[in-house]
Amino acid sequence: MSAPHTHFAIALDGPAASGKSTLAKNLAARLGLVMVNSGAMYRAVTWKALKENISPSDNGAVVEMLGRITITTGVKENLSTIEIDGEDPGDALRSEEVNANVSAISAIPEVRVLLVNLQRDYLQGHSIVMEGRDIGSVVFPDTPYKIYVDAAEHVRAARRSQVGEIDSVAARDAADSKRNTSPLVIAEGATVLDTSDHTIESGVDAAIDILRQQGLPLSRP
Ligand code: DC
Repeated sequence: MSAPHTHFAIALDGPAASGKSTLAKNLAARLGLVMVNSGAMYRAVTWKALKENISPSDNGAVVEMLGRITITTGVKENLSTIEIDGEDPGDALRSEEVNANVSAISAIPEVRVLLVNLQRDYLQGHSIVMEGRDIGSVVFPDTPYKIYVDAAEHVRAARRSQVGEIDSVAARDAADSKRNTSPLVIAEGATVLDTSDHTIESGVDAAIDILRQQGLPLSRP
């Protein structure tokens, strides 16, 4: 008899610069789980399209590209990794050019189908904290562990400029929330966590309280 499937997913969704990456990383470290950054997957496909001079609004060309590239996902030191055709995009994932084009690429249904399958595959080998926009609503709708991470607009803008990113956060959020396919929503069953006034540590504590209330069996420190 095979061992029961015991892996589980914690879904963290929210707008850009809401603090969800930091929370996901620290929460995963605290709980000994793998952190999966789904945004990096959309960014990697965007990076590849730009590298090939494909316009992100040319759905046909993007879909044609998807058919001939090899996307390899993995885990290194408890964090997700991604390579396309054997190349790790590295810091280029967070370039201004990728920031400006990732919403258009991630609105293409074929891109989402492909990447959602790769995201679900992570559960075969690991229990995970996955951050994104549609993790609680589309990728793992059945997980009981869902947090919608938010922060005040001015806090999010300040966080972005602190890391030196010139990015129209508001414009990207509007595009991600208004698209037809898997828009950013507060998933059914998700609890909202506002990180505006939290430190990293207190944010992780608050997330752990929410997960306990959602039924995650965690021993008290
Ligand atoms: O989390 P991030 O800012 O790195 O995500 C980059 C973009 O990828 C975001 O603007 C929208 C898209 N994205 C998505 O559509 N669905 C996800 N689950 C994660 C990211």
